[in-house]
Amino acid sequence: MGIICSNTLSTPSSSMKSTTPSAGSGGGNYIHVIASGGAAPKDITIHEASDDIQNTNYPPIYESHFSKLLIPHTLLQERTAQIASHIHNTYDHNEALLIICVLKGSSPFFHLLLQELSGLCHPYMIDFIKVKSYEGLNSSGTVQVGTAGGGGLPKSIQGRHVLIIEDIIDTGLTLSALIPKIKEEKPKSVKVCSMLVKRLGEKEETTDKLDHVLGTNESSGGCAGIDWNLIGFSIPDIFVVGCGLDFNEMYRDLMDLYILGPIGIEGGGYGEDV
Ligand code: IMP
Ligand code: MG
Repeated sequence: MGIICSNTLSTPSSSMKSTTPSAGSGGGNYIHVIASGGAAPKDITIHEASDDIQNTNYPPIYESHFSKLLIPHTLLQERTAQIASHIHNTYDHNEALLIICVLKGSSPFFHLLLQELSGLCHPYMIDFIKVKSYEGLNSSGTVQVGTAGGGGLPKSIQGRHVLIIEDIIDTGLTLSALIPKIKEEKPKSVKVCSMLVKRLGEKEETTDKLDHVLGTNESSGGCAGIDWNLIGFSIPDIFVVGCGLDFNEMYRDLMDLYILGPIGIEGGGYGEDV
């Protein structure tokens, strides 16, 4: 017989215990973020991006494709652990939460989060939705929604608490197309958990954007407003790659998040110096 977790105990995961990113993976700029605790997202500024790229881990074929390191993996992991803890403290432990991964970009963050939730013994089910709205560096303005295996949305949505996992919220177009479709399947509730959100000028503007996308009004088909505890980081309005985020399908494999440099951009994601 296996060991049964106590649902009343919130067991911190191993990655939450660490407060210091590993050497060569982003530097001391980030240390205060985790040390300050709390579940609110960290607003990453461009000034916190590090030039110390040489010591980070990426395949040699990407050499000189990035201009800066924006968020090191250790920080992503620690923030993910905080989010998992918030989920565990918020959702009922007696029913499985349906966690939907928006493919492909959310996949690494989704798996980090699942590991943390499993460590907390939080019950969940998983499903996958495929959505595409970006062409190269820009939003295409249209959203294509489908399931990974083709067909309609997951049948398991009806009557369940649903958590949609996104990699990044930029214009919000993807979610404003997806949420109403999920709502049509009659879930008990819908919330969005995103690794990143792109910040607009002022904090209020970003909040307005998210409220608009996610919908404070139930009749608009949105969910009940933004839960900032489910957002990893807010970042400046720049193009980032890594941890699932791509540029023309490249760079999803990176553990850290980088700002793409001119060589990466001009090479169309393939680094050709044109
Ligand atoms: P939205 O529909 O404009 O909110 O954009 C959402 C999708 O666009 C994300 O799920 C990503 O796939 C893609 N995207 C937006 N910004 C970036 C970026 O900086 N890097 C890579 N992909 C991005
Ligand atoms: Mg995405």
